[in-house]
Amino acid sequence: MTKTAELHIDGNVYELPILEGSEGEKAIDISKLRAQTGHITLDVGFKNTGSTKSSITFLDGEKGILRHRGYTIEDLCEKADFLEVAYMLIYGEFPDAETYEKFKYTITHHTLVHEDMRKIFDGFPSTAHPMGVLSSLVTSLTAFYPESLDPTTSPEGVDLTIERLLAKLPTIAAWSYKNEMGHPVNYPNNQLDYVSNFLYMMFGFRTENYEVNPVVRDALNKLLILHADHEQNCSAATVRVVGSSQASLYASVSAGINALWGRLHGGANQAVIEMLENIKKDGGDVEKYLAKAKDKDDPFRLMGFGHRVYKNFDPRARIIKKSCDDVLESLGIKDPTLEIAKKLEEAALKDDYFVERKLFPNVDFYSGIIYRAIGIPTEMFTVMFAMGRLPGWIAQWKEMREEGQPIGRPRQLYVGENERKLEK
Ligand code: ACO
Repeated sequence: MTKTAELHIDGNVYELPILEGSEGEKAIDISKLRAQTGHITLDVGFKNTGSTKSSITFLDGEKGILRHRGYTIEDLCEKADFLEVAYMLIYGEFPDAETYEKFKYTITHHTLVHEDMRKIFDGFPSTAHPMGVLSSLVTSLTAFYPESLDPTTSPEGVDLTIERLLAKLPTIAAWSYKNEMGHPVNYPNNQLDYVSNFLYMMFGFRTENYEVNPVVRDALNKLLILHADHEQNCSAATVRVVGSSQASLYASVSAGINALWGRLHGGANQAVIEMLENIKKDGGDVEKYLAKAKDKDDPFRLMGFGHRVYKNFDPRARIIKKSCDDVLESLGIKDPTLEIAKKLEEAALKDDYFVERKLFPNVDFYSGIIYRAIGIPTEMFTVMFAMGRLPGWIAQWKEMREEGQPIGRPRQLYVGENERKLEK
């Protein structure tokens, strides 16, 4: 029997169905609320609003659990390769050996971008932020593959669009870095796997034999998996809303990239390193910065701390912290910002302000230190996040389309002027 919630308004009683998810999460279905009662719900920032049912990712912010299609993030990071996690997120199951070989072959053979796209790169000044370049270039894929404009075409057509996007994003990302550096670009190397090829396109020079460092490759593989999906976050929700108007996958993902860019979302990894550098320059006094973060008259926030959903340790931060130690040790790097980060974390976790508000380090707190250790420049950090998040955006877009979800269009509570005459 369906459970219901009762809503009392002006002496009338309305029954609202209660739905239960596969992990026991409960939701009150208000989809007919306005038609039945004339009321809408108000939930600024969607803090309590479920915008969809989904089978992709489960997370329990109170317990610090993150699972993709039932697999824990810890298991995935330890045992899987990023590209097979991408396949699993998008298509629901891990591929068998033959399917995976075919998938890898297809992705590898779509990594090249159209030579005319080079002209678009050339048009950007070297001051262009790589996130802006990335989102522009992803949108411009619609010009090179106009058949992608109508996402209601055959499933094979959609698959090809997905494969092209997965294949070309690392090339576009690496080229946006080369553009910023004023270096000639590296064309993809089909002998290399997905992660190694990206490293080659970033750091290889045509005149030298580039050897991929396995420690760096493993760290990057792990980081990409850690970022692969995170249910209805700001950028995934953006991808779904944009896609719900039947905009193409490229346009929808480009919108997701822009949503990720902000410092309250994916841009936090860049902001964390900048914050740690500032603290270092200012003498390394972490208590001073904790006091600033707590002061309501000071706009400063501890970047990389707090999360809309996690009210416990972000499980991704736990994995990254360990990986950070391993990478720095095996590369023989001593990074004073890591020491500051650890001191800051230790002090914050003991501080009443942070304890009461359940503010813990999030995925971005340590990731920047690893990126920097493997040679990724600060402005590229959020681009790395985008590369990792791509399979999640695609999976969310595909699920939204396959479920035939209606166009995303929230309501509002109008609080402006009532009708008035224009006196002229
Ligand atoms: N430093 C200091 N205080 C904080 C911080 C922080 N990093 N985060 C939250 N708080 C405080 C708020 O001031 C608020 O205090 P109050 O109740 O006294 O007013 C309380 O904790 C709740 O915070 P909200 O801003 O209401 O929480 P919300 O869920 O809206 O925001 C967010 C979450 C944006 C992540 C926030 O914690 C933040 O700004 N963190 C820093 C930026 C960051 O690291 N972003 C990356 C998030 S992970 C990701 O997107 C990949």
